[in-house]
Amino acid sequence: MKVVKTIEEVREAVRGWRAEGLSVGLVPTMGFLHEGHKSLIVRAAADNDRVVVSDFVNPTQFGPTEDLESYPRDLNRDAALCEEAGAALIFNPEVDEMYADDATTFVNMTGPSEDLCGMSRPIHFRGVCTVVSKLFNIVKPDRAYFGQKDAQQLAVIRRMVRDLNFDIEIVGCPIVREADGLAKSSRNTYLSAEERQAALVLSQAVKLGQKMAEDGEKSADKIVDAMKKHIEAEPLAKIDYVKAVDAVSVSPVTEMKPPVLVAMAVYIGKTRLIDNFIYEG
Ligand code: PAF
Repeated sequence: MKVVKTIEEVREAVRGWRAEGLSVGLVPTMGFLHEGHKSLIVRAAADNDRVVVSDFVNPTQFGPTEDLESYPRDLNRDAALCEEAGAALIFNPEVDEMYADDATTFVNMTGPSEDLCGMSRPIHFRGVCTVVSKLFNIVKPDRAYFGQKDAQQLAVIRRMVRDLNFDIEIVGCPIVREADGLAKSSRNTYLSAEERQAALVLSQAVKLGQKMAEDGEKSADKIVDAMKKHIEAEPLAKIDYVKAVDAVSVSPVTEMKPPVLVAMAVYIGKTRLIDNFIYEG
């Protein structure tokens, strides 16, 4: 497995593989990889002859008061995990390799990007769509892999691929959780021991909502209210949102008519965590 820093090195590697008739999968990441990322790479390696992992903390998707500077980074650890999971190449560019100083072109979306995280992080999905489009153009993969934990991101990418005619299959992969239920996230490392315990309210609320839906509750508001009540009982938790939306359009729903995405963002202390479930009926 190789770690490369330039777009040209990626293109050269991919050209070589294409000349041999090999298929290529892409796993876009911001590094500090965990078991959730590993599951994406393992899946990509099962589906494709070669896997590229991009490892890039993308500045354009962070707001001015967000954690761009403190976002955890550890390339050596990432490289070991990628190698074990079956990746062939890590693309770890510097910011100036990805963005010209005078770059003025961005991918802007309305619709699926506007509610949920789009409300409290207004430039986030513009940055995500822009960097993912650039990665698609650099790697030109057959397939690209995204985690269901970022369910809105997955819906946004699917819409972008459809609207902009990228010839790439988007594969969504299940949430990977710690033994006690907490969804794996690079941001979990920010949590103190006390906050780590408090953070369990997210996955507990997911379980509660999921059970209500499976038991036949048809009112999305009742499910969301019960989940909010559970989270609000934890003093360290502050809800950003808990909402039920159509899983494809990400527009609000009042009825549990599948597929419904029930998603949340909750601050535990200063750390903003997300979790969700999809009700398929
Ligand atoms: O999910 C992430 O880690 C990022 O949003 C992504 C897709 C790698 C784009 O920077």
